[in-house]
Amino acid sequence: MPEARLAQWRERIDLALAAALPSTDSGPGRLHAAMHHAALLGGKRMRPLLVYAAGDLFGADPTALDAPAVAIELVHAYSLVHDDLPAMDDDDLRRNQPTVHIAFDEATAILAGDALQTQAFSVLADAPVNDAVRVALMRTLARAAGSAGMCGGQALDLAATGNSAVIGIDALEHLHALKTGALIRAAVRMGALCANATEAELESLDAYADALGLAFQVRDDILDVESDSDTLGKTVGKDAAQDKATFPALLGLDASQGRLQELAARMNDALAPFGERAGLLAALGRQAVERSF
Ligand code: IPE
Ligand code: IPE
Ligand code: MG
Ligand code: MG
Ligand code: MG
Repeated sequence: MPEARLAQWRERIDLALAAALPSTDSGPGRLHAAMHHAALLGGKRMRPLLVYAAGDLFGADPTALDAPAVAIELVHAYSLVHDDLPAMDDDDLRRNQPTVHIAFDEATAILAGDALQTQAFSVLADAPVNDAVRVALMRTLARAAGSAGMCGGQALDLAATGNSAVIGIDALEHLHALKTGALIRAAVRMGALCANATEAELESLDAYADALGLAFQVRDDILDVESDSDTLGKTVGKDAAQDKATFPALLGLDASQGRLQELAARMNDALAPFGERAGLLAALGRQAVERSF
């Protein structure tokens, strides 16, 4: 049962994440408490689950997968803290909790994000894998998080905010591929790298991860229109209020749903060569497409 295995890994990542964070008993306590708030209070843990599922596909040792699973979630948590800041999306609710700059203050939120990101690379530096794999993991995450990946996508997102009418569908897909897709692709790659997957195997997984990354953000955009804040754990309707470049804004809801179904089919096609061994990755793909929070 994929769901039971995913639940076991969810427990595993929560323990590993907590162990990777500095204690709130040690100083600076306020900064450490903000890091805990950002990383431990809720979250679906989809990116770590992708690390475990991709590693499992190629028979990786689970103890080798903990470091990249933790590292990707730390970078993701940092990206959310900064995404919510007043200078970016200016959100006060995240994972059904006040955002870090509301629960603490803006300067602490900036520093907590910075420290979560550097902690991610510190965890990878200590990963119990050989040197070549360790360097490949660090390179993969650094590139995915930086200006060619998540940060670059966030810059494009901000540039398009208030101008959503002028962006075309190709530019919107590029924006989504960077801001959301890059970390999702890195999660899948890092899991496979821990099992010494070949370049050809990595490339076939990229097709799955690219479709998943885009689908995940399309679903996120749809939920911002269709869901409610209690279910979603974040304030809905913000994208339209801020004139964000989103799939529903550009194509409407029906066409966005259609695009989501196309992406689900692309994920299945990409996983087909792996057969039943890819059952966990397929389950995670379905969860992303069908998610309600
Ligand atoms: C939210 O990501 C930000 C996007 C990339 C759309 P998630 O929906 O994975 O957030 P959590 O980790 O479950 O809170
Ligand atoms: C955020 O996209 C993606 C990153 C944090 C990199 P959104 O701005 O749509 O995410 P939410 O809706 O605030 O979670
Ligand atoms: Mg944003
Ligand atoms: Mg946001
Ligand atoms: Mg969103």
